[in-house]
Amino acid sequence: MHVDEAIRSRKSVRRFLSTPVPAAVVSHILEVAARAPSGNNVQPWRVYVLAGEARERLCADIVKAAQEDPDRHQPEYAYYPTSWFDPYLDRRRRCGFGLYATLGIARDDQAARERQMLRNYTFFDAPVGLLVTLDRRLNTGSFMDVGMFIQNVMVAARAQGLHTCAQAAFAWFHKVARQHLPMGDNEILLCGIALGQEDLQAPENAFITERAALAEFVSFHGMEGCPDRSAR
Ligand SMILES: Cc1cc2nc3c(=O)[nH]c(=O)nc-3n(C[C@H](O)[C@H](O)[C@H](O)COP(=O)(O)O)c2cc1C
Repeated sequence: MHVDEAIRSRKSVRRFLSTPVPAAVVSHILEVAARAPSGNNVQPWRVYVLAGEARERLCADIVKAAQEDPDRHQPEYAYYPTSWFDPYLDRRRRCGFGLYATLGIARDDQAARERQMLRNYTFFDAPVGLLVTLDRRLNTGSFMDVGMFIQNVMVAARAQGLHTCAQAAFAWFHKVARQHLPMGDNEILLCGIALGQEDLQAPENAFITERAALAEFVSFHGMEGCPDRSAR
């Protein structure tokens, strides 16, 4: 698979088949992903791979916590701003509305939205779930490094014919995760990654998110023949 094809075909899959993913394939993906660059090659990522009963037990406890008392749970890092503003607000809305529209969930159907949100905590049925952590004694630069690793996992999964969904939703439930996994006090749970075969029949998997045009986020300087007409 050409690298462009692996990157372009990656998308967030939110319904997986139960087809198991062999341990050797998971290990291969993680070995490839660990070729990600990191400042001073510190390789600050750590991954917990969950499948079978270990995955089921963790998922059951997180679903329970999310249903019973979600406000008791908070992430250990701020992923999102406390108040949104454009253009990010608009993009965020379009993403949410687009997903719910493909699922046939009305904007004011809070119960259906809640059910869909809870599906995060069963890794959208994926047979393998990864939890990714970062050592909190490092600094904000390491978030870039782990981000590159996470993207590599998702792209390397494509080369194996697999799909993924990155899931910050797990960050809220780090205390529950700690009861199941030997996570050190120094580790921040950054996100989960669902890994498995895409369910091609699922409407939510047909949702392809849009991207801003190049001119919205790039300006070229001192380069001939650039496609951005506004550039000097
Ligand atoms: C770090 C990270 C965390 C994410 N967390 C969630 C999540 O908790 N639940 C979810 O359904 N999607 C999650 N997403 C998926 C984004 O919504 C998705 O990447 C975005 O809408 C673009 O769509 P695409 O991945 O299909 O290209 C996350 C993505 C990233 C990169």
